[in-house]
Amino acid sequence: MVLALEELTKEFSTGFLRRGRHRAVDGLSLDLARGEVFGLLGPNGAGKSTTLKLITGLLWPTSGRVSVFGRAPHDPQARAALGFLPEHPTFYDHLTGEELLAYLAGVCGLRGLDLTTRVQRTLDRVGLGDARTRAVRQYSKGMVQRLGLAQAIVNDPALVILDEPMSGLDPIGRREVRELILELRDAGRTVLFSSHILSDAEMLCSRVAILSRGRLVASGTTSDLTSGQTRGWEITAAQLTPAAVAALQPKTIKAVRITHGRYTFELSAEQRPEPVVAELAACGATLESVTPLRATLEDVFVERVS
Ligand SMILES: Nc1ncnc2c1ncn2[C@@H]1O[C@H](COP(=O)(O)OP(=O)(O)OP(=O)(O)O)[C@@H](O)[C@H]1O
Ligand SMILES: [Mg+2]
Repeated sequence: MVLALEELTKEFSTGFLRRGRHRAVDGLSLDLARGEVFGLLGPNGAGKSTTLKLITGLLWPTSGRVSVFGRAPHDPQARAALGFLPEHPTFYDHLTGEELLAYLAGVCGLRGLDLTTRVQRTLDRVGLGDARTRAVRQYSKGMVQRLGLAQAIVNDPALVILDEPMSGLDPIGRREVRELILELRDAGRTVLFSSHILSDAEMLCSRVAILSRGRLVASGTTSDLTSGQTRGWEITAAQLTPAAVAALQPKTIKAVRITHGRYTFELSAEQRPEPVVAELAACGATLESVTPLRATLEDVFVERVS
């Protein structure tokens, strides 16, 4: 097992004289196997960043256990196997991107030619090759985020943990990060990332967990979470006469005209598409498609956290 969380709980002291307690993570148990891309999802304040900080050893749990490759997060061997992009990466910004990454790679134990080639390759990989000799203080927000990604993967860790890796990136940058995550997976690395962007999670993850107020409210493959949740049907047909449309309209929940004589009809989840298809055939229309409208991860997310 690459990563195991057992009944992980974190309480913060809050308020006057820090007498209040706020439970940011509440009895969270999760397992990650090698080669998985796992998405930790949840609304603002759900406890995603706190969970990732507990895994990387930046915070101590109030109770419960984290094990990274069977070791405690503070164990030097666990640390060496782990790369982390924090939520708000900040760097000593008088250095150039290259100097900074070389420094951080040195801290990870890389030396000499190996260090130099890894630094260059990683900067190219995150799209900062051309900016490598510029001071980090001149970097844009998206460039700082890319540098954060670079430092998370420069020592080629077996487990890569990314807190909102797409945040601050433009659509091209987001696509590049998605490709990078898939490359890491194909190279046998395990990736755990947090996100609000459900379509990214849907595209990338073998499994996801949804957190709400520190608790696990759903977990599984995205298809597990969304299957069995057909929202209805969409039927598209052409060569429809106005009389045929008028006859069909009351039997559907929506009829949308696409072009002259071509319509899309929407049916509810309780309806079957076959009678409508038969009626279309009877009135001489050409059936183009019948599509089940499946629930998306967003539907599941909204349902479980609200
Ligand atoms: N150091 C702290 N002291 C007190 N409360 C904290 C601390 N860090 C986090 N919290 C609280 O714990 C809860 C979870 O915060 P966390 O940052 O883990 O959420 P998140 O899921 O990462 O949210 P976001 O999507 O906004 O990044 C929040 O209510 C937050 O206010
Ligand atoms: Mg966060």
